[in-house]
Amino acid sequence: MFSNRNNEALSNSNIVTFSIVIPTYNESENILRLISEIEKNLPTSDFTEIIVVDDNSPDGTGKLVEDYITKKGIKAKEKNSLHPNNHILKVVHRTGKEGLIPAILDGVRQSSGTNLLIMDADFSHPPEVIPKMMSELKRNPNSIVIGSRYIEGGKVVGWPARRKILSKGASTLARLGLNVKSVKDPMSGLFALRRELIQNISIATKGYKILLEILVKNKEIPVIEVPYTFTDRQSGKSKMNYNVIVNYAEAIWQLYQHGQKSDQVMISEQVNKRSVRFISKVGRYYTVGISGLTINYIVSFLLANDVANSIRLLSNVWYLEASIIGAIISLTSNFFLNKYWTFEDKRFEVRSTARQYLSFVGMSAVGLIIQISLLYYMVENFVPYRISLIVAIAVATTINFILNKKFTFKEKVWA
Ligand code: GDD
Ligand code: MN
Repeated sequence: MFSNRNNEALSNSNIVTFSIVIPTYNESENILRLISEIEKNLPTSDFTEIIVVDDNSPDGTGKLVEDYITKKGIKAKEKNSLHPNNHILKVVHRTGKEGLIPAILDGVRQSSGTNLLIMDADFSHPPEVIPKMMSELKRNPNSIVIGSRYIEGGKVVGWPARRKILSKGASTLARLGLNVKSVKDPMSGLFALRRELIQNISIATKGYKILLEILVKNKEIPVIEVPYTFTDRQSGKSKMNYNVIVNYAEAIWQLYQHGQKSDQVMISEQVNKRSVRFISKVGRYYTVGISGLTINYIVSFLLANDVANSIRLLSNVWYLEASIIGAIISLTSNFFLNKYWTFEDKRFEVRSTARQYLSFVGMSAVGLIIQISLLYYMVENFVPYRISLIVAIAVATTINFILNKKFTFKEKVWA
């Protein structure tokens, strides 16, 4: 309803610019202190709504907030009158502990702010960073602003090494596996964005990491990371447990499959095309290799027999020389066939072609050395000669192919 108004207009009225959503479960030792710290940090220029979403905490967190609202008189219903404060406070009571993401989404549904800021209740997310994140988002209203532990200026205090490694490892996996590489802290629980961005996506996972889900499904949205120091909770208990880890693994898997589907056009097909191209080039290379062997054989045979017989000028080791000439001719034909056909390189400028030729000969020498060593090694280890020969040729040719692709024809190996 308010989304078509711009932010400047909003900040001058009593329309909610920001809704701060705080999920809680057994946070009675933290929540009131946190609310008052947030109140101290709220910029006066904006009208803000604080929404605590409580899963019927047995320790009475919800009731505490309820009483605080009554005492302070900063109820939601007063927002239409000119309110003395620059904020209102609301509590959403849910029936039971149903997990972090559903709680956050419930809070989002009950919020009225143009923008949202999501944070934890246990002081791991310092209230002092709120104004910075708000102003970043107002300056870049179409971005996601993330409170980040893993960019310069951010850090983690109070976590044991084990949890640090787990978090860093999970972040890295998520960044690489889910293709959100540019975001350093995609698992952050502290972030801000326009409410529309969250409304328009369906959150499918049970996981703990709603931000990750938003990022994976909105790769085109720019991300701004604001550093902060994450301090492990001083009061109350973490809700991170075995279940959470299992749910997390499930969530990653679901998101990964989502990525597989939606990125199909961009990534899978590219990989597919690349592998097709790679394999077709290997195939051509092998074909050229076989043609070379045939040429080699014919040339050697002709020179060693017919020619030698008919000319009769030649020594009795002519067969060796014939073989060398055969090898040189087939090497040369291999080079040109591979250049023109396999690697589709159709420039025949003399200097660069000569350089390529030398490189090709060098790589062939390497291939020959590999082939002979492997053959020797296998035969010495009682592998039958014929099998050894096939394996040695296949391995040497493949290595040869890769070397020539990269160094002679200067292609990327996997392209
Ligand atoms: N309503 C509700 N329901 N709130 C919950 C639930 C739930 O089932 N589970 C956890 N919370 C609330 C907690 O009360 C707290 O405010 C916040 O969610 C985070 O829970 P913690 O138990 O403190 O989580 P954590 O410290 O292990 O995890 C934090 O680090 C992650 C980054 O590694 C959280 O900040 C995550 O959001 C964050 O992604
Ligand atoms: Mn915590």
